[in-house]
Amino acid sequence: MSPGGAENPFDAIVVGGGAAGLMCALTAGQRGKRVLVVEHANRVGKKILMSGGGRCNFTNTGATPANYLSANPHYCKSALARYTPADFIALVDRHRIAWHEKELGQLFCDDSSKQILRLLLDECADGGVRIETSCAIEHVRHGDGGFHVDTARGMFSAPALVVASGGLSIPSMGASGFGYDLARRFGHRVLPTRAGLVPLTLSGKHQERLADLAGVAVPVEAHCGRASFRNFMLLTHRGVSGPAILQISSYWNTGDDLRLDLLPGDDALAWLRAQRAERGASELRTVLAERLPKRFAQRLCEHWLPDRPMRQLDDAQLRDIAGVLAAWPLVASGTEGYRTAEVTLGGVDTDELSSSTMQSRRVPGLYFIGEVVDVTGWLGGYNFQWAWASGHACGMAL
Ligand code: FDA
Repeated sequence: MSPGGAENPFDAIVVGGGAAGLMCALTAGQRGKRVLVVEHANRVGKKILMSGGGRCNFTNTGATPANYLSANPHYCKSALARYTPADFIALVDRHRIAWHEKELGQLFCDDSSKQILRLLLDECADGGVRIETSCAIEHVRHGDGGFHVDTARGMFSAPALVVASGGLSIPSMGASGFGYDLARRFGHRVLPTRAGLVPLTLSGKHQERLADLAGVAVPVEAHCGRASFRNFMLLTHRGVSGPAILQISSYWNTGDDLRLDLLPGDDALAWLRAQRAERGASELRTVLAERLPKRFAQRLCEHWLPDRPMRQLDDAQLRDIAGVLAAWPLVASGTEGYRTAEVTLGGVDTDELSSSTMQSRRVPGLYFIGEVVDVTGWLGGYNFQWAWASGHACGMAL
């Protein structure tokens, strides 16, 4: 009999069959631990399936602690160092899953993200992991030396409970606030949560001036505070998206100053002067259209820049134009929220968790891994790497 009297002799119950939960379960299972995964959705790994446009950007070869946001930037170091991108690539190779590098160390399956989920499930099967899907949790009790989880499928008990229930993004995929509520119930602090890696919305004049350019992609360097990302911005019907915007969105809070360098890597003033010398009769919009999408260049000249032949622009005006091009102010009104966000920022405060085992310092036997914890990666495979690394650290400790 397990603690509490339920006839379920498990060493650990993992709540949530996502990336982190499955990695933890397979690691512990293969170490001989009896593990149960309780998933309330009708199948495990839904986010894995939809990730990377169906090809799962399963890691990033350049992942370092600097690619993560957290109130304690040191917390993720230990787990990331002990389970690296190379470790996950070795697992992928062992399962003969073909992959390719897209850009900046981002690795994707050649074929389908289903292969990554298959890998995790096969490894769980090797470890004798039991997985219960469509298994809603009604109540969790702690006492008699263990955790007692009352579910739609009956009561399960174990001396360890691993919370791997993820964040709040994409509620239609099974996201819930379960982990945060449970953490609070056990006395843990939960840092304020908000949508990350999310499109930004525009309002008022900005929205009116740009809405009909939806679909236009502009290479930019997006700046917010000390963070900056060079990549594409995609104009949408409601605002802006694309990798540069998704990345900077995680650093942006309502009201923050957001600026876009529209000629990233270039000295805008020197370039404008050279253009004036070489093609003085050309209008600014024509000159800009060589570096920016034509319709976007035109729109800039209708609302933000003087549209005149280059030779009519004196040095002071060129300096002003260069200033706008180097730091175009984008006034975002908000984000699209959890409906489209890839991740949830904030979460269970790491201050009361062990960075080597992910165990609660308040409640022995209670663990938090993956996105529910206040560790959030950049776009590009970093979030799965955190899920694998934190899941592995915990699975080794159970
Ligand atoms: P995850 O959310 O994966 O799993 C949590 C599980 O817990 C879910 O199965 C959920 O149903 C379950 N659950 C929740 N509440 C429960 C409850 N009360 N009882 C039981 N079960 C419960 N990252 C990346 O690195 N590369 C990529 O390509 C992408 N692509 C991507 C696309 C999209 C559209 C999204 C939304 C996200 C990504 N991400 C990503 C982010 C990545 O998917 C995310 O960071 C990880 O899945 C987090 O793993 P977790 O296991 O922590 O949570």
